[in-house]
Amino acid sequence: MFKCHSAAMLYNLAKPFIFKLEAERAHGLTIAGLKTLPMGPAPKADPVLATTVAGLDFPNPIGMAPGFDKNGEVPDALIRMGFGFAEVGTLTPRAQAGNPKPRIFRLVEDKAVINRLGFNNRGQDDAMSRLERMRGRMGKGVLGINIGANKDSDDRIADYVTGAKNMAPLADYLTVNISSPNTPGLRALQDKGALAELLAAVMQAMGTSKAPVFLKVAPDLEPADIDDIVEVATEQKIAALIISNTTITRPDLRSANQSETGGLSGAPLKDLALQRLKDFRKASGGRIPLIGVGGIATAEDALERIRAGACLVQLYSAMIYEGPTIAASMARQLAKLLKAEGFTSIAEAVGSSVDK
Ligand SMILES: Cc1cc2nc3c(=O)[nH]c(=O)nc-3n(C[C@H](O)[C@H](O)[C@H](O)COP(=O)(O)O)c2cc1C
Repeated sequence: MFKCHSAAMLYNLAKPFIFKLEAERAHGLTIAGLKTLPMGPAPKADPVLATTVAGLDFPNPIGMAPGFDKNGEVPDALIRMGFGFAEVGTLTPRAQAGNPKPRIFRLVEDKAVINRLGFNNRGQDDAMSRLERMRGRMGKGVLGINIGANKDSDDRIADYVTGAKNMAPLADYLTVNISSPNTPGLRALQDKGALAELLAAVMQAMGTSKAPVFLKVAPDLEPADIDDIVEVATEQKIAALIISNTTITRPDLRSANQSETGGLSGAPLKDLALQRLKDFRKASGGRIPLIGVGGIATAEDALERIRAGACLVQLYSAMIYEGPTIAASMARQLAKLLKAEGFTSIAEAVGSSVDK
């Protein structure tokens, strides 16, 4: 059994040593630990947290954002830690090394991270047989697979088509990620014409697969971009929009690493990601499910995002600062908050701060 209090205490004891390690090395050791440490079953989620999005049943609405488990090695362990869903990837068709190291930077005073990894991953072929096995170990947890394009690809749309064909049979849902700032030119796929072409090609490649397709966008968008994305996503029957990836902007930061190039995540992204969620809610009028991500660290943050229109939330950076028990304790706390506010389900709370 995964004991929340003792694990939280252990993490607090170990944190000074973990933070002395170079960030990517610490991450590698964490993945290795999750692959080998014995873990009990997932904590039982309070029924008030159960929710259905895009036809999928989630035991709780708190998910692990992609980037933590790039190669799909530990989605089952993430569910056992209390996440309701785990999104693995970004996986590109071919393995690629990513940018030169160091390329992940902790901004401790800001509770933030800057990364310029550049889609380092071992490729889709490597992940396929492993994910086939993982599917059987997910219990009630939902498996998302996030796909991208290789940096040196001369036909990026073809890479997403390959990704859809390779990964859709293994996924509960598939995410088309066009919002990483670390693959030059990738975000241009968010432009209306390019996006329509990309999504039409992906939807065709899905064939008879029943997996819903989600689209993950950047927070650095103008109002006109938001309208275009909502229009194209609706036309192409995208099942949910994930808002958002990391930002290339730099709000007020205090840490020494603030001038590193890359995408910023964690606490300083919170206000921007929340604002973009509200913008997408307004532009879509609640017609397309939204998933909130960026700077979420507490149950209060999660509920704020849900009330602003998110059906589900995800996090990554907060786990670096708060430790492996974050999902389980947030889920417990979120159930209490929902009940205290008189909600009998997540669905009832979605958009409740904008609909009044
Ligand atoms: C080290 C690192 C690697 C990431 N890699 C990916 C990735 O491969 N694909 C992706 O869609 N998002 C990636 N992200 C973005 C996260 O999924 C998430 O959108 C972002 O970090 C904001 O959430 P947070 O503030 O809770 O971390 C990465 C984030 C970090 C910190």
